[in-house]
Amino acid sequence: MKQRILFVCLGNICRSPAAEAMLRRLVESEGLGDVIEVDSAGTYGGHRGERSDVRMRRAAAARGIEMTHLARQVREEDFELFDKVIAMDDNNYEALFRLAPDRRAQQKIFRFKEYLRRHTDWSYIPDPYYEGHEGFELVLDLLEDGCATLLDEIR
Ligand code: 4NP
Repeated sequence: MKQRILFVCLGNICRSPAAEAMLRRLVESEGLGDVIEVDSAGTYGGHRGERSDVRMRRAAAARGIEMTHLARQVREEDFELFDKVIAMDDNNYEALFRLAPDRRAQQKIFRFKEYLRRHTDWSYIPDPYYEGHEGFELVLDLLEDGCATLLDEIR
C-alpha cells in the first residue's frame, strides 16, 4: 500500500518543501517512487502559491535537489489524505494538533526530530528564514539525516 507523507513547517517555503524534495529524490533514486507519495504544507497561509524561498532553493540545488513546490496551507482534510504528518518544530506540532479533527488524526502527527539518528542534539528543525546561509545548510544536514531514516522505514 502506498505510504503518504506530509511534511509541515510554518511558511511552507523553506523547511518542509526541502524535506519533500529530498525524500522524493531519495525514494526515486531507489526506484521506490511508486510506493510513496510526498507533499508539504505550512501552518501559516501567508505565502500560499509562492515558490520556495530562493535561498533554500539554491542551497538545495547545490546538493542536487530541485524544489518545485508551490506553498499551500495545511487543511483538515490532509489528515484523511496522508498517513504521516511530520512537523518540523514544536509550534508546527501544536498547530497541527489543534487542527486535527479527532484522535485518529492526532495519532498521525509526528515530529521530524524523531527521525534524526546522527543529530540527536537537535529537538527540532530550526526556522532558517531570518538566518544566513549556514541556517539553510544546517536545515539540509538535518533533513538528510531524517529523510535517510524515513527511507529505511519505507524500504
Ligand atoms: P519555513 O520558514 O516555515 O521553513 O517555510 C519560514 C518562512 C516564512 C516565514 C517564517 C518561516 N514567515 O514568517 O513569513
